[in-house]
Amino acid sequence: MLEERRETLQKTIEFLQNRMTIQPKIAIVLGSGLGGLTKEIEILDEIPYGEIPNFPVSTVKGHKGTLIFGRLNQVEVVVLNGRFHYYEGYPMQTVTYPEHVFAGLGVKTLILSNAAGGMNPTFQVGDIMLIRDHINMFGSNPLLGPNDDTLGPRFPNMSQVYSPRLLKIAHQKAKALGIHVQEGVYIGVSGPCFETPSEYKAYYILGADAVGMSTVPEAIVGVYRGLEVFAFSVITDLGIVGQVMEATHEEVLAAATGAEPNMVKLICEMLPEI
Ligand code: HPA
Repeated sequence: MLEERRETLQKTIEFLQNRMTIQPKIAIVLGSGLGGLTKEIEILDEIPYGEIPNFPVSTVKGHKGTLIFGRLNQVEVVVLNGRFHYYEGYPMQTVTYPEHVFAGLGVKTLILSNAAGGMNPTFQVGDIMLIRDHINMFGSNPLLGPNDDTLGPRFPNMSQVYSPRLLKIAHQKAKALGIHVQEGVYIGVSGPCFETPSEYKAYYILGADAVGMSTVPEAIVGVYRGLEVFAFSVITDLGIVGQVMEATHEEVLAAATGAEPNMVKLICEMLPEI
């Protein structure tokens, strides 16, 4: 089983290595409505997922499904333009397949973005929240099953998933750019339902500031594979006690797109410092 998984992954990695003209050390995963970042990339190669051996294919609206190799603000990057969500029905190992590929390609830093609902009463729609920590509420884990000790530890330590060094750089750059950012805890849930008012309240009481349907599995595998992880949420709707919004997927995408210019500026400024 492990041998088979290793061979599957190796086939994907070898295909990409044969095509790659750069050696990116940074991977960026684009969240819902945040695909506009690709406009800023000097694209060297853009590969539809369907053309990559053993790579999953994404189904959700607003997620295109290409792997991009290029330069962003002069820095070499590989960009996952369309992620795989647990709510689409993919097993956790498929959701996090790209992170294993990134690690295999020699990536050292993983940048994750997402759209999320804000529970913290100081948050507003359009805010950027830098993720300090997470709560895994998926009811599953991408590392379940036999462990491949050549990839990472059986019981990975999660005491510091999100790099304090990268958080510090993000705060410094945001300040210099005059972009207001929040910092907080992200709680990852399976979805696909948005939360009931009681669920938003419960998650806030648990210690989360924002809730979303991604990022946690990828961050876990990032840490497992020894990557330095940075993540942020764009707050697209509010689940604040007494003011829970009736969010739709379209509104989430629109709010994320509205916050996109600031997100793009922040990432571009951070990259040379990483
Ligand atoms: N809940 C869960 N996921 C989300 C939300 C939300 O309110 N907004 C965007 N993604």
